[in-house]
Amino acid sequence: MIIFDNQNDLKLHLEINGVNKKIGFVPTMGALHEGHISLIIESTKKCELTICSIFINPTQFDSKEDLEKYPKTIEQDILLLKKNNCDILYSPNKSDLYKSGEKAKKYNFKSLESVLEGIYRPNHFNGVATIVDKLLNIVKADYAYFGLKDLQQTMIIKELVKLNKIKTRIIGLPTIREINGLAKSSRNKLLSVENKENASHIYKQLLIIKENFKQNSIDALLKNAKEKLINNNITIDYIEIIETNTFKISRNINSKKEYAICIAAYVNGVRLIDNLIL
Ligand code: PAJ
Repeated sequence: MIIFDNQNDLKLHLEINGVNKKIGFVPTMGALHEGHISLIIESTKKCELTICSIFINPTQFDSKEDLEKYPKTIEQDILLLKKNNCDILYSPNKSDLYKSGEKAKKYNFKSLESVLEGIYRPNHFNGVATIVDKLLNIVKADYAYFGLKDLQQTMIIKELVKLNKIKTRIIGLPTIREINGLAKSSRNKLLSVENKENASHIYKQLLIIKENFKQNSIDALLKNAKEKLINNNITIDYIEIIETNTFKISRNINSKKEYAICIAAYVNGVRLIDNLIL
């Protein structure tokens, strides 16, 4: 695996070694786990050259504290990427991607950003879109792989490539979970064994909602889930059923449309998000 810490060298390398090759790209913020690796594996299956980026993007964090406590495990990440046949790692410093004092661009993703994460983390998607736009323009991949664990993010990235006429195809892949159902996340590294046991109730409640979605009223399902989660020391930011394509919050079901149940909640101060397509 070749490691680049600056975009000029990476672009030069790709001009020579990337021609006529199908390129797959997996952007990450590091602290890699099986969720990230599932994206790398899919890319190596479909593409001739797989590029991973590791960059903790400051413009998408709500607070300095959250940014500072984000886990960093670069040595381990490099080993994992090599083991899984990643060809190139791009892990730059901030100055390689942002000019001094540069802020996130302002985007308009309409209904996709006016709910859930868009409300609870006001500038978050502007930060995500700003960095993904920059990265896609550097790598110019044929395919870029994103996790459906971050469903709203993946939908926003699909909209971003449409808006900016970026040629990369965005592929969303299923959520990889721990044995107890907890969605794998870099933030899980901040949880104790007991915290993880509590956090497993998030997936359990999503499953109960999925199983009873057609029979019960949405309000009753959400009320029941909220009670169970609070009883397991989980603090909820939101738990909502949305229409997948528009991300509009739904109370009435149209059998022709696809829905998802989305949640953001805190376990011992660590913010976790999860969802299930219904
Ligand atoms: P990060 O949280 O590191 O996630 C990188 C990619 O891995 C995202 O597409 C995310 O959805 C996917 N992923 C995370 N956990 C997963 C799981 N359990 N199963 C499957 N896929 C999973 O998301 C970001 O970084 C950043 O916002 C980024 C897009 C890199 C922009 O900075």
